[in-house]
Amino acid sequence: MCGIVGAIAHRTVTPVLLEGLKRLEYRGYDSAGIAVLDQDHTLLRTRRIGKILELEAALQQAPLVGRIGIAHTRWATHGVPSERNAHPHVCRERVAVVHNGIVENYEALRGELQAKGYEFTSETDTEVIAHQIDVFLEQGLPLLKAVQATCGVLRGAFAIGVISSAHPRELVAARQGSPLVVGLGDSENYIASDVFALVAETQRFLFLEDGDTAVLTTDGVEIYDAAGAAVERPVHETRIAADAVERGEYRHYMQKEIHEQAIAVEKTLDGRYQGERLLDEAFGDTAAAIFDQVRNVQIVACGTSYHAGMVARYWMEEIAGVPCQVEVASEFRYRRHVVQPGTLFVTISQSGETADTLAALKQARLIGYTHTLAICNVPESSLVRESELALMTRAGPEIGVASTKAFTTQLTALLLLVIAIGKRNGISKEREVAIVRELHRLPSQIEQVLRLEPEIVKWAENFGDKKDALYLGRGMHYPVAMEGALKLKEISYIHAEAYPAGELKHGPLALIDDQMPVIAVAPNNELLEKLKSNLQEVQARGGELYVFADVNAPLESMAGVKLLRVAEVNDVLAPIIYTIPLQLLAYHVALIKGTDVDQPRNLAKSVTVE
Ligand code: F6R
Repeated sequence: MCGIVGAIAHRTVTPVLLEGLKRLEYRGYDSAGIAVLDQDHTLLRTRRIGKILELEAALQQAPLVGRIGIAHTRWATHGVPSERNAHPHVCRERVAVVHNGIVENYEALRGELQAKGYEFTSETDTEVIAHQIDVFLEQGLPLLKAVQATCGVLRGAFAIGVISSAHPRELVAARQGSPLVVGLGDSENYIASDVFALVAETQRFLFLEDGDTAVLTTDGVEIYDAAGAAVERPVHETRIAADAVERGEYRHYMQKEIHEQAIAVEKTLDGRYQGERLLDEAFGDTAAAIFDQVRNVQIVACGTSYHAGMVARYWMEEIAGVPCQVEVASEFRYRRHVVQPGTLFVTISQSGETADTLAALKQARLIGYTHTLAICNVPESSLVRESELALMTRAGPEIGVASTKAFTTQLTALLLLVIAIGKRNGISKEREVAIVRELHRLPSQIEQVLRLEPEIVKWAENFGDKKDALYLGRGMHYPVAMEGALKLKEISYIHAEAYPAGELKHGPLALIDDQMPVIAVAPNNELLEKLKSNLQEVQARGGELYVFADVNAPLESMAGVKLLRVAEVNDVLAPIIYTIPLQLLAYHVALIKGTDVDQPRNLAKSVTVE
């Protein structure tokens, strides 16, 4: 949450900062701001409530010109979204700070700083950082030392960028628990919350580690570790193209990303096979030896990625025959565990920066999970760097806050993992080859299910005035229903819940009336008859049923039910296919409701705070 960007150059940096903010807007969009030092080293700042466009308009009216600057797009944690609470926060026109993360001891620090005479103008936790740095500058410390000393008194997670009129040729950055990268330019250097923010400027990056501080000048970058010792961090070349985040002909990124799923899945599979046999090396050089020891799998993730993990649990136990547990990261990290010997600890994350998932991984290592694997979309992310093994989903940048192609590629990657582990646990060569053949048909099946869009648009019209919706599925389609409900609630703001269809009669049936649409996922599997009974229970109570069903599912007899037929698909892969119409339904309902599809209220894409 929150995006930060900073730059130092021999030209004015405002366009670099603005472009960076636009690319980081998915991380938060309730207010934005920018601060630069002008040629007289005067600190100038502009902040606006609302999206980056508001800030851009303000800067067109009154440009800020400076060769060093920092900028921020906010997702509020402490204090309402307002201009007063927007970053950068300044102290005495001398220090400006942008911050991503949470300072947990800010109240105590605020008290101490007020006692020293510092005045606070915001409700944020960040403002203490600006004042605390000023305290150390007053004591005569250079900017780097003042920032390092400040980091020493802060508790919590943070990534910060700092400029000071007293040190106009240095941009200082620090990272503790929140993501921060350094971009290397030609006589100019940058910081940002992620690589995307800077790909229009450079392809060369350094990744700061927790506890690192960095001093950027136009001549170079110096990095110091938590002990204050100078360190070298390797330079990485990114392959992300500057135009990889363009919206193209689509109305929203989410729509584009839904339609990219066939290609994305193809990329997930690319090169991971030799003939029809899965290559263990796809997971990392040491994967084969580690997989040989796996007797149990523990999956941890958040939100949509957690739903992918829930589907994988069915696969892992049914196909690989290996016990598998799945838990939400924010719960996993705060309870006691019995660690089963031979457990592979698997994290799933689109961004690879989700604070709870990262903390769960750290916790897992501490309590004795020896082998860790990340399923992730961002090779440069903290999660990948901190995991022993990793499988990249290769979905390409996902900008829409509601996750779509990340989910289907996670499922594809998880199925590869299931096969890799299953191979060692008795899954026959024939079964492996059969699944692999089906996987290769997946992109064309995705294309096919996307063709349901015009009919889904018509269905969506019935949802414009709805307040609630219920999603039903059974077996591995229960997590698919959960994912459908999550999509609807986050972008259309319609309250939606998912239930395993068999649970209806244990309570939720009481909710059914003619105002409650019920959306069901009905592939033609061994649970279809059971699901049909559950749907009849809904129908008998006047509920309005919308069913995504296999072409061969015998549901015609259910008069009054709205049916959309999905082409026949292999049972194992059905969760991937059936998710797609649910994404489309949520998208088109959101269009009718007129919500901000790509940047729904109160949310942000990369949840880097607890
Ligand atoms: C929902 C959504 C979120 C994320 C969750 C985890 O559409 O995108 O629920 O799935 O915040 O994010 P990652 O996968 O980046 O760890």
